[in-house]
Amino acid sequence: MSATIIDGKAVAADLRSRLAGEVESIAGTGLTPGLAVVLVGEDAASQVYVRNKAKQTREIGMASFEHRLSADTPETDLLALVARLNADDAVDGILVQLPLPDHIDAQKVIAAIDPDKDVDGFHPVNAGRLATGLPGLVPCTPLGCVMLAKSAQADLSGMEAVVVGRSNIVGKPVAQLLLAENCTVTIAHSRSRDLPAICRRADLLVAAVGRPEMVRGDWIRPGAIVIDVGINRVPNPDAGGGKTRLVGDVAFAEARAVAGAITPVPGGVGPMTIACLLQNTLTAARQRRG
Ligand code: GUN
Repeated sequence: MSATIIDGKAVAADLRSRLAGEVESIAGTGLTPGLAVVLVGEDAASQVYVRNKAKQTREIGMASFEHRLSADTPETDLLALVARLNADDAVDGILVQLPLPDHIDAQKVIAAIDPDKDVDGFHPVNAGRLATGLPGLVPCTPLGCVMLAKSAQADLSGMEAVVVGRSNIVGKPVAQLLLAENCTVTIAHSRSRDLPAICRRADLLVAAVGRPEMVRGDWIRPGAIVIDVGINRVPNPDAGGGKTRLVGDVAFAEARAVAGAITPVPGGVGPMTIACLLQNTLTAARQRRG
């Protein structure tokens, strides 16, 4: 058996086109949702992310506000910018690109963002809302994972879900979302005893550990849905010349032979993150401005 490949690019494109339609339909009421993205420093990967976020924001008809600050910006200046964006009525969503330079306390900055504009869903108030089932803004990558799982199987109710990884950004929130979908959820991690045996129980396996190809084919229950959150750059000896390639946290070729459906890397979870950010911006605009 060879698994169905879950096409994250296609699901993300569908979502963006649906969002563009909704943005257009509310434009008549004089509302243009706005997303502010703040980048501190010149990290190359962050610059690419920020450029893509701004481009896709404009493409669906939302307003994009970009703030680029130098790497030596004092924490107080960044906090002052966040306060200005909190007070700016044209701004519905605020995203401060991570990682931040070492001299800035990221938790302090996240906590300074108005929770109702926190389109990353990282503010403790939004984490609390998610944990207690209140409406709020949910982290984008976990939201994308659940959408992709539901594109393979619309009703996840009653499924045995195993999440490998316990980060605040992916592992914990994806577990909360799957619980809300009525899955039976296990959160496993690098210290879990007999990780392969825990994974083998999963009808739905979410791998978010950040270790290249750690989850092997024989860890996977035949027919399971596998969502691979990992994006790891590894040497590619076949290509020569010091070239690299991207791999997930799952050994794709092995897993594909066993799973029922699986996300590829690249082209799986990755494209969903920005699309979900745009969805969160629209949600924030609607909640704030009624
Ligand atoms: N850096 C890499 N991914 C993300 C993300 O989803 N949000 C923020 N704020 N920074 C990131």
